[in-house]
Amino acid sequence: MEEDKLKPEIIESADGSHTLRVESLNENYHSHKGALTESLHVFLKMGLALFSEKESIQLLEVGFGTGLNAMLTAIDKDRKHVHYTSLETYPLSWEMVSKLNYAKLSNDSKAESVFEKMHTAPWGEFAEIAEGFSLRKVKSSLQEFQSDTQFDLVYYDAFAPHAQPELWEPVIWQKLFEMMSVGGVLVTYCAKGQVRRDMQAAGFKVERLQGPPGKREMIRATKP
Ligand SMILES: C[S@@+](CC[C@H](N)C(=O)[O-])C[C@H]1O[C@@H](n2cnc3c(N)ncnc32)[C@H](O)[C@@H]1O
Repeated sequence: MEEDKLKPEIIESADGSHTLRVESLNENYHSHKGALTESLHVFLKMGLALFSEKESIQLLEVGFGTGLNAMLTAIDKDRKHVHYTSLETYPLSWEMVSKLNYAKLSNDSKAESVFEKMHTAPWGEFAEIAEGFSLRKVKSSLQEFQSDTQFDLVYYDAFAPHAQPELWEPVIWQKLFEMMSVGGVLVTYCAKGQVRRDMQAAGFKVERLQGPPGKREMIRATKP
């Protein structure tokens, strides 16, 4: 089982939602100040909401992990059609993720079945998970991933620079810039100065936005 490499343990974050702790990386899958709150703020409010008028979008997520961002996107009431591609190198087992309390806390009666469908969907192909929401999980690193799709929205949710510095290098922003449509938007919880400068050097217009509770800032980068 691949999650053995990370040995994640379930912990409770400040808003009552679970997250996973990876002791060997000194890292969590989400903010310990509130996992659900962070995802809603960084990825849905600052990212997805910009596309509520667009009939159909191609979305790329870096780091499927627990599927929290994917579930929240699937049950979002304001979205239009979303084609959601999510990359993951160390898939978690259903045995572990089925213990997470995200569906319960979401107050959406469809969330439980959406969450299970997402985790049991096949890898490498699009599967219809909810009305207007299809998911393609790809067992690949971002570094190896190749695609002809031009992505409108990128949820950049890799482990933090201290844990996985190779995912925050200039070459990453150059690659994503090439893979995005004009007007495409990348959002991430990270606000490091070096990351912002490297994104700008790759061609992005970069904004520092208010972060979720407990984090001062976050980044939104747009391909002009
Ligand atoms: C911060 S966690 C993701 C949180 C996830 N979005 C969620 O809602 O649970 C980072 C994820 O990136 C995955 N990952 C690690 N290296 C990767 C790589 N090179 N390319 C893509 N994903 C990677 C990890 O296994 C982990 O699941």
